[in-house]
This record gives sequence, structure tokens and C-alpha cells, in this order.
Amino acid sequence: MPDMDGFREANNYGFGQTSQFDNFHVKGASNLPWGMKDRLSRIFNPKTGRAVMLAFDHGFIMGPTSGLERIDLNIVPLVQYADCIMCTRGILQTSIPANINKPVCLRSDAGSTILTELNRNVLIDIEDAIRCNASALAVMFSAGDGDQEAITAANLVEAVDMGNRYGIPVMGVTAVGKQMARDSRYFALASRVCAENGASIVKTYYCDGFEKVAASCPVPVVIAGGKKLPEKEALELCYNAVNDGAAGVDMGRNVFQSESPAAMIQAVHAVVHEGLTPEQGFEMFKDLSK
Ligand code: 5RP
Repeated sequence: MPDMDGFREANNYGFGQTSQFDNFHVKGASNLPWGMKDRLSRIFNPKTGRAVMLAFDHGFIMGPTSGLERIDLNIVPLVQYADCIMCTRGILQTSIPANINKPVCLRSDAGSTILTELNRNVLIDIEDAIRCNASALAVMFSAGDGDQEAITAANLVEAVDMGNRYGIPVMGVTAVGKQMARDSRYFALASRVCAENGASIVKTYYCDGFEKVAASCPVPVVIAGGKKLPEKEALELCYNAVNDGAAGVDMGRNVFQSESPAAMIQAVHAVVHEGLTPEQGFEMFKDLSK
């Protein structure tokens, strides 16, 4: 029992003032439990509401790919510039030092490769995700593609149920089904399905009409970078995406396959968080590349 001597009567109730916490900075997250919000806040900067996630989970379907041959040499030096890293548990445990102090969006589905192209409905154990201190679980969803749709939808729902049990948000990653065009109609559908099934973040692709994709998705949308582009075009992609409503990027190849990956991720960060134009971002990239 605290000592009551000198007890001061409470008198600062802020009557008439709206709580500053009523509008949580992550879209659609106001009603989530505290642990979920805490994890989302580690990913999305509370000042800007945005995130630069560094994706290097490609090896789990592609095997070694350019820029990811040696995670310890190529990726670890970039981690300091990212708000969050996205990778598999195998890479996390073998190649990422445990003292990086960055949130991890853990690739949590498994079993597919570019050779089989079928996700075998395998999710990692939620307890292992907790042991990895995951701040989010990333799970692919592929709409309109028969078996693939059913399997990935089941994965997504199971991941959300597991994540909800322990306060870990899920990021739905929209793959492009073979039958579907890469247009705003498809990405809006796939993103919305992810959110309606409980994903707290959606990762999708930028496209014409992207503002409709972002506006009709009730949770934050981050964009993948896709195949390597010239740096200025990749910065334009980031700029257009956030201006059209994306809450950031979850980018891989356009960072780690850049001529100067450290310069590129810093330029991407400045475009996403500081509103640099693509031209300003590209100047920054060139300066940092010297
Ligand atoms: C695929 C993924 C990849 O991480 C994603 O495509 C991001 O990488 P890139 O910017 O290279 O496209 O989630 O399922």
C-alpha cells in the first residue's frame, strides 16, 4: 500500500478534450487489443503512420537469388535503415543477429516453390513465431485460382486465428492468381478479402487505380516493389503509392539488387516518411552512392 501522506487529490480530468488515443495511427486498428497495437506500432511509425519494410523472404520459393546469396553480407547492413524486416524463420535464426532490435514480419506459410507453385497448406507453429518474437505473421493469399485460392484462404484464416490468440497481427500477401489480371479490380478484391478475413496489414502491388485499392481496404496497404527497376522509377513507384493511399512499402529486389542498396533504402525511407519527391529521392540516392 503506498504511503498516503501528502496524497494529492486528482484534479486533471481533461473534461471536454478528446483522448489523443482515440485515433490510433494504424488504419483499422483502433479496436484491437493492446498487444496487437503495440506490435503494429513497432512496424508503422507513430509519427508518420507509415512503414518501410525490407523483404528478403524470396529464397523460400526462389532459392538463392541475386542480392540474397549471403544474407549476412548483403542484408544485415541494410537492416538499420528499415522499420521492419520480413523474412523466414530459417534466415532469421541463421543469418540475422538477435540484437538488431527491429520488428520482424515473419514469413509464416511454407511448402511452396517456383517448381511446384502450390502452397501445401503449411503454417509454422505459432509458438515458434512467438519464440522468434514476431511482430507480425506474413501469409500469402491467392484469389481466383482454384485450389490455390482455397488453400491460401485456409492458411490466412488459420494464421489470423492463431495470431489473435497471442496478439500477433497478420499481413496478407496478395499473390496474383493465374486467371487474374494485375489490375486494381483484382488487387482491390484480394486486399479486401485479406482484410475481411482478419488480416491487419495487406501487402499488394501498385497499379493504375491504386487509390481504389487502398481506399476500399480497411487496413493499411503496403506495396511490394516487384522486379528490379531503375532506381528513379522505383522511387516514383514508392512516391505514387504513398500518395495514392499506401501506408508504405515492403520492398525487396528494388533495394537489395540496387547498385547501392544502402543508399536506395535510405532514399526509399525519405520518400515514404519525409515526402521527398522522386527527383529529390534520386538526388539523395546519388549523393549517398558516392
Ligand atoms: C512474395 C513476397 C516478397 O517478399 C515480395 O514480393 C517483396 O519483394 P519484391 O519487392 O522483391 O517484390 O512477399 O510473396
